[in-house]
Parts: sequence; C-alpha cells; structure tokens
Amino acid sequence: MSALARITDLHAGYGRAEVLFGVDLTVPRGAVTTLIGRNGMGKTTTIRCLMGLLSPSSGRVEVGDEDLTGAAPYRMARAGLGLVPEGRQVFPSLTVSENLRATARPRANGWTEARVFDAFPRLAERRAHYGVQLSGGEQQMLAIGRALMTNPDLLVLDEATEGLAPLIREEIWTMLGRLKAEGLTILLVDKNLGELARISDHYAVIEKGRIVWTGSADDFAADRATVEQFLHL
Ligand SMILES: Nc1ncnc2c1ncn2[C@@H]1O[C@H](COP(=O)(O)OP(=O)(O)OP(=O)(O)O)[C@@H](O)[C@H]1O
Ligand SMILES: [Mg+2]
Repeated sequence: MSALARITDLHAGYGRAEVLFGVDLTVPRGAVTTLIGRNGMGKTTTIRCLMGLLSPSSGRVEVGDEDLTGAAPYRMARAGLGLVPEGRQVFPSLTVSENLRATARPRANGWTEARVFDAFPRLAERRAHYGVQLSGGEQQMLAIGRALMTNPDLLVLDEATEGLAPLIREEIWTMLGRLKAEGLTILLVDKNLGELARISDHYAVIEKGRIVWTGSADDFAADRATVEQFLHL
C-alpha cells in the first residue's frame, strides 16, 4: 500500500498562536482516510498545510515521492490534490458553469462539466445562476464538482456535509461512495460517524494539534471506547 500523501511532524499556526504540534498523517492510495476530532483541534489547519494554503513552521508535506513542503496551492493542484474547502467558498459572482471551469484541469476520460451535471442534476438546472444565488446544498455540490473538474488523484473534503439538509447530505454520501468505488483516493474531515463507517478505510484522530490515534476501520470499531474519549461523544 503506497502513500499518495504523507505529512510528517508538522508544526503550524497563525502568527504566534501555535496550532499543530507535530502532526503525522499518511493518506494511502485508493482508500478513504478520515481525519476526525473535536472543534478547533487543527483539522482545517492540517488540510490548509497539505493544500499549500498555509506554510508550516516545520515538518514535511510529501505528495507521491515529491517533497512539497510550503509549495504554493497551484503546485499542490498540479501534483494531483483537489480540495472541497470548509465553508465551500464558491465564487459568488461567477455562474455555476464559470465556477466549475475556473480551476478545471482537463484530463483524458476525466471529469467534465457534463459529467458533473450528470452526477448532480440540480446543478445542471442552475448552470446559469450565480454562486451567491445558490442554496447551501447547491453550493456544496458545486464545490465538489469544481474539485472533481481538477481531476484530482486525491480528493480532500473538509466538512462537506456540515449544516446541510438530510436529503442533500445523503446525496453527497452516495456520491462519495461512488467515487470510492471508482478507486479515487479520498481524505475526509467529517464528524458523522454513522456515515463514515460505511465508507472510511482508515481513521486518524486529532486532539489539540497532535494525532493521538490511527488505525483501520476495524480497529476504529474495536477501539471505540478509546476513540470516543478523544471525541467526547
Ligand atoms: N485564521 C486563523 N487565525 C487565527 N487562529 C486560527 C485561524 N484559523 C484557525 N485558528 C485557530 O486554530 C485552531 C485550530 O483551528 P482549525 O480550524 O484547524 O480547527 P478544526 O479542527 O478544523 O475545527 P472545526 O471542527 O471547528 O472546523 C483553533 O483554535 C482556531 O481558533
Ligand atoms: Mg475545520
């Protein structure tokens, strides 16, 4: 099992506020890995370092065999990383179509606008609407479609089902299941243990800027009592 991405002894923060204190995280190829932890523990900060949106103060970020520590976001995208960011961050003054195309990286037999519209018919109906006119669920589908149109080797989703209506959540989980079945490597940040159990192969639990538990889905189920202490469920 080769790693698609690996984070080693990562330290990072905002100004003088340190947030990550030596995060180690491996993302195996062809599997779904979940990073889980309570609010404010450093999940998004870890993702931001992985995506080149925040420069770590020390540690290493590798994609495949390449050391890309501190590299710019466009290089991370070129290395095959696609992000569905926390809070969706669709471009408000671009249409659905324009949002999808803005960061697209075409690939033979890859994701196209037509394929995204096939996967999310609701977006097709809204193709001429501006980002700002969309509901939260539609924005989330758009953020996922936009990331898919970069044709990533690793799709990273930071709380992609947060705050959405149950039917939309269901649609997104179904989509993630399909992507997994197609063999896409996925790194998820999510708190929905029930849905995660159906899709996640590996778990990493983060607590106050450190990974305090890692293991397979089976380990996670077996060690639930320990894990729940960290998650304070
Ligand atoms: N831009 C920022 N400037 C200063 N501090 C920040 C900034 N973003 C996050 N923090 C702080 O860093 C810590 C970790 O935040 P982070 O967003 O990584 O947590 P998280 O695990 O993603 O939480 P959540 O589950 O709420 O999304 C928190 O204490 C947060 O207040
Ligand atoms: Mg977060």
